[in-house]
Amino acid sequence: MSEPTRVSILGATGSIGTSTLRVLDHNPEQFEVVSLVAQRNVERLSEIARRTRAAFVAVADERQFAALKDRLSGTDTQVGAGPEAIIEAAARQADVVVSAITGYAGLRSTLAAARSGANLALANKEAMVTAGAMVKAALKEGGGALIPVDSEHAALFQSLWAQDREAITQLILTASGGPFRTWSKEDIQNATPAQALKHPNWDMGAKVTVDSASMMNKGLELIEAQQIFDISPERLDVVVHPQSIVHSLVAYSDGGQMAQLGVPDMQTPISAALRWPQRTKTTVPPLDLAQYGALTFEPPDRDRFPCLSLAEQVMQQGGAAPIAMNAANEVAVSAFLEGAFGFGRIAEVVSAVLEGTRAADPQSLDEIALIDAESRTRAHAAVAKLVK
Ligand SMILES: NC(=O)c1ccc[n+]([C@@H]2O[C@H](COP(=O)([O-])OP(=O)(O)OC[C@H]3O[C@@H](n4cnc5c(N)ncnc54)[C@H](OP(=O)(O)O)[C@@H]3O)[C@@H](O)[C@H]2O)c1
Repeated sequence: MSEPTRVSILGATGSIGTSTLRVLDHNPEQFEVVSLVAQRNVERLSEIARRTRAAFVAVADERQFAALKDRLSGTDTQVGAGPEAIIEAAARQADVVVSAITGYAGLRSTLAAARSGANLALANKEAMVTAGAMVKAALKEGGGALIPVDSEHAALFQSLWAQDREAITQLILTASGGPFRTWSKEDIQNATPAQALKHPNWDMGAKVTVDSASMMNKGLELIEAQQIFDISPERLDVVVHPQSIVHSLVAYSDGGQMAQLGVPDMQTPISAALRWPQRTKTTVPPLDLAQYGALTFEPPDRDRFPCLSLAEQVMQQGGAAPIAMNAANEVAVSAFLEGAFGFGRIAEVVSAVLEGTRAADPQSLDEIALIDAESRTRAHAAVAKLVK
């Protein structure tokens, strides 16, 4: 029997973290847990740490340190809190680090994991959108590989495996269309958080679910694909596929296309990333295509989903624009979830921030952090103006 794969999970208490643990629980002899990270949910974090006998757990919110330590007393698990502890958790020696913190907050730990030499099982798309070149450089320095977990990129990665890279003509990302796919523009404009959080196919964290409803998620994924696969924007496309069975496609110069299919469950792309190129068993039921009968496809409607067009423009611009867009979107989505305004205002906030973004080509993490912080300030001002 081969040695167990040593896994760290950044964002262990979230949706991707939970799906990862499901894969681990199903194959206990194949995995060993090194580190676990969460923001503040120490109840769940300590329960996972006890169950998996993790070597180290870290919580971002320092006020939770005592509670976490208390809950893990009597175990061999070491405990840390605060930003340095998160970096330590990401950098501990592991074979694979699952990067699944939500948003820009996951960037520094993603970079630490990439530098550590472990393979990077990347779910945190915002790290790639805001600092793709830096993540790739960190991976080069560490020597590990980037294995995408986002289902579309996992599908592209697998459909590209051992193929002639020169012959690729297009990468086509599929999009479910989200809960508002068939809604009128006016109804989308006024939609509530409860409506946006009802995704038809995927069970995910709140932020990515709202991004899915606005199609900003697909926009972020286009930029993520641009970065991961080093491909020009002209060769990236989106097709709406409401059943979420075909997880993306690669078109080749001979006219053929390769796709990866499966029931929409994140255990599948996660399990592929954990021991790639080996496959790991999951509890996901096999895909029975006859049961679906028809798989349908349609073009995205950029008029009803303006966030997709904004992201496409940003992908062309590069530089500061993706950082500003991501920051504005994070602020706008939080405000929307807090009930500040209707769904349509998210795109308005992002658009207002992008209009005032200066052209720049950030070369360091500090420069990226500055653009992120400035964009957040302007996004908060745009939100305040809209709720007045
Ligand atoms: N869910 C999916 O199916 C899916 C699919 C593709 C890609 N993704 C991507 O994967 C990432 C995670 O998504 P998710 O749906 O799993 O999110 P989620 O359910 O909201 O979970 C987020 C996780 O990150 C932790 N966290 C949040 N902020 C943190 C911080 N500042 N420091 C340390 N930990 C922090 C949370 O801890 P607490 O529980 O303590 O708050 C939680 O463990 C996102 O980038 C998303 O776009 C998700």
